[in-house]
Amino acid sequence: MERAFEGYSEFIPFFSDFQDCLQTPLPQHLRVNTLKISTLPLLRALERKGIFLKAALDSETPLFLAPEGTSLGRWLEYALGYIHPQALTSCAASLFLGPETGSYVLDLCAAPGGKTSHLSQLMKGEGLIVANELHRKRHMPLMNTLSRLGVLNAVLTGYPAQEFPFRGKFDYVLADVPCSGEGTFRYGRDHFPEKTRGSRPNVWETQRRIILRGFDLLKEGGQMLYATCTYNPEENESVVAHLQKHRDAEIMKIDSPLPFLPGLSGWNRETYGEDMKNAARFYPHYVNSVGFFMAKIGRRR
Ligand SMILES: C[S@@+](CC[C@H](N)C(=O)[O-])C[C@H]1O[C@@H](n2cnc3c(N)ncnc32)[C@H](O)[C@@H]1O
Repeated sequence: MERAFEGYSEFIPFFSDFQDCLQTPLPQHLRVNTLKISTLPLLRALERKGIFLKAALDSETPLFLAPEGTSLGRWLEYALGYIHPQALTSCAASLFLGPETGSYVLDLCAAPGGKTSHLSQLMKGEGLIVANELHRKRHMPLMNTLSRLGVLNAVLTGYPAQEFPFRGKFDYVLADVPCSGEGTFRYGRDHFPEKTRGSRPNVWETQRRIILRGFDLLKEGGQMLYATCTYNPEENESVVAHLQKHRDAEIMKIDSPLPFLPGLSGWNRETYGEDMKNAARFYPHYVNSVGFFMAKIGRRR
């Protein structure tokens, strides 16, 4: 069988380490939901049950490695909304966007709500999040996440993100767009090889429309985070370059506690702008979590 992602060996450094990492299980991380509980009482309650969590990251949000083989969804603390299972790199998206308390935020592709609820936590439950999700069948999981985690400052809408109809402008926009999901792949999981390259042909067309609409919904001085959990440059740098071709969009530096590599300078005869290096590529052999691409985009005043 062809090795996974062989075509990406041109730009993924230490490619055999990358391949080896895909053979190992994905570690489970959890976020403490400070909307409902502070870290210390939670850690003490878990320790009384013999569960000792290892800190995963020094960040504004308490993030921990879950004990191996545990099913977090069965924990009482999960049902009570004290914790949320979430990949480290997925948590990084909301941290990078960093909405201020009381701000006005649009999450264009919100279900199942991991990042929406994290944004609310960072905003200390103040301000407003419009959590948009196109697919009706994903509204209930989104609602369940928000209600279990005690998110009270979000409203739900169901528009295609690329045609999001509001006239009002937002301080922050999260565009965690539908993508081919290559970064979630580890061998032994059931969705390989179909879900590697080319599994969602032309998804980049939707991504290009979503990024343009998201940018147009930003206030002057506002910020948008564009994210995919995929490696394909056509869904990443190329989409951001499309935005820059049509709008005056600046790619801002990301201050990341997690190791990442810069955005590519070009791919497939396409050359990207100088500031594409400010985008972040997260690979599993650098940070043992889901692979992601993120670009923080600023709208100039
Ligand atoms: C990558 S997932 C979002 C994950 C979510 N941000 C989280 O952290 O839990 C992308 C979501 O976009 C939704 N979606 C797909 N096409 C869409 C569209 N055109 N407009 C809005 N949402 C869309 C999918 O149903 C899916 O729930």
